[in-house]
Amino acid sequence: MKTLEIDIQHALYFAGQKNYEALEPEAVKAISTIDGKSGPGSDFLGWDTLPSETSQQLLDRINATAERLRAAADYIVVVGIGGSYLGARAVISALSDLFSDQYIPEPNNPKILYAGQNISEDYLASLKKLLSGKKFAIINISKSGTTTEPAIAFRVLRDLLVQQAGADKAKDLIVAITDKEKGALRAMADKEGYETYVIPDNVGGRFSVLTPVGLLPIACAGFDISKLIAGARDMENTTRRPGPSNPAQVYAMMRNALYRDGKKIELLVNYNPRLHYFSEWWKQLFGESEGKENKGIFPASVDFTTDLHSMGQWIQQGERTIFETVLSVKEPADSLRIPGNAENLDGINYLEGKRVDEVNKQAELGTLLAHVDGGVPNIRISVHSLDEYTMGQLIYFFEKACAISGYMLGVNPFNQPGVEDYKKNMFALLGKPGYEAQTQEMKKRLEK
Ligand code: PA5
Repeated sequence: MKTLEIDIQHALYFAGQKNYEALEPEAVKAISTIDGKSGPGSDFLGWDTLPSETSQQLLDRINATAERLRAAADYIVVVGIGGSYLGARAVISALSDLFSDQYIPEPNNPKILYAGQNISEDYLASLKKLLSGKKFAIINISKSGTTTEPAIAFRVLRDLLVQQAGADKAKDLIVAITDKEKGALRAMADKEGYETYVIPDNVGGRFSVLTPVGLLPIACAGFDISKLIAGARDMENTTRRPGPSNPAQVYAMMRNALYRDGKKIELLVNYNPRLHYFSEWWKQLFGESEGKENKGIFPASVDFTTDLHSMGQWIQQGERTIFETVLSVKEPADSLRIPGNAENLDGINYLEGKRVDEVNKQAELGTLLAHVDGGVPNIRISVHSLDEYTMGQLIYFFEKACAISGYMLGVNPFNQPGVEDYKKNMFALLGKPGYEAQTQEMKKRLEK
């Protein structure tokens, strides 16, 4: 088994060994709270045993749907927002050739596109233009089945699909993933006869990537969801019991020790652009789980070395309230060496014959030392390579660590009461039936 490794030596130096070790009882308690389902939000602990409880029957069914859509469409649009799309995008981006979107779709190998994660007219109009005259399918994902962003995108795309494929064929090209009985999407899917998958009641959006929410889009992109689940299952076993070899416990303890020492911002760092969307998924996971009751580490992310040329100054010398968690990948997917050049006008012949990744790795080490010298604690999480198994490990590792960390912080890591506030205002401003009183109040406030 390719194991995930965590190195906290460059963070311990800042937090102090004693302060770190003092948190062990809290971490152990958090793990037993999760295990015993005895803490706040315990109705939403379905993700905890999801890998070991995922049946072969479900995987087979998802693979069959994916094959059907892959054969029928050149483009598959994943419609969803937040937890209903970021996990799929994170895994697909991590496993895909970085320029795969630029290639022309091949038979049985469609391009995966995304919609419903913004309300931009430009975005939807451009997507519509791209899909005009093309063979496409839609996977519409919403746990509540009532979220505005995906509902608008789905309405626009479904109209186009019906126009192009006809009403009957369009039904076969749409799959809905939603609640088993509640919400407008469930009602619509039942009425129209779309194929559907259920998001379990006990799995919240940001913890749902290992349900059909993530698995179907990932299978549609051509990746092996059995290996993804296998990686997650191994990490479920590794993190089940408390102890110093439980990497999720170590990570949760370290970030809480740093937080209590005034490090309020965590930067998730990658050195591989394939991980950009993994950081986006991670930010939602930790941000929505911990940012409440006026508490919580602010989760931010940077793509290095790109952002060393924009954010590097701040990280090196700005306010000392940050720490870094570096996601380090030992082996890139491809191999490329730097060519020599007789004239050496660019002065980089000293790099001749080296792999590009070797330069990247030295940048990573040099940056680690510079930032530690500048007062930025560093946690390093290393994986062997970006494959399905590793992504499964990483997903489960961060989910478990997030739950432990949230309980250590003293919050309910599984709710998100603050997300509703902007929606209420938007609905009132748009005149949604039922919001009449708020509409007047909003308008008055904006007139001032
Ligand atoms: O994690 C969450 O709860 C949110 O990010 C939701 O996933 C997001 O708001 C989408 O909700 P829904 O799946 O109900 O459309």
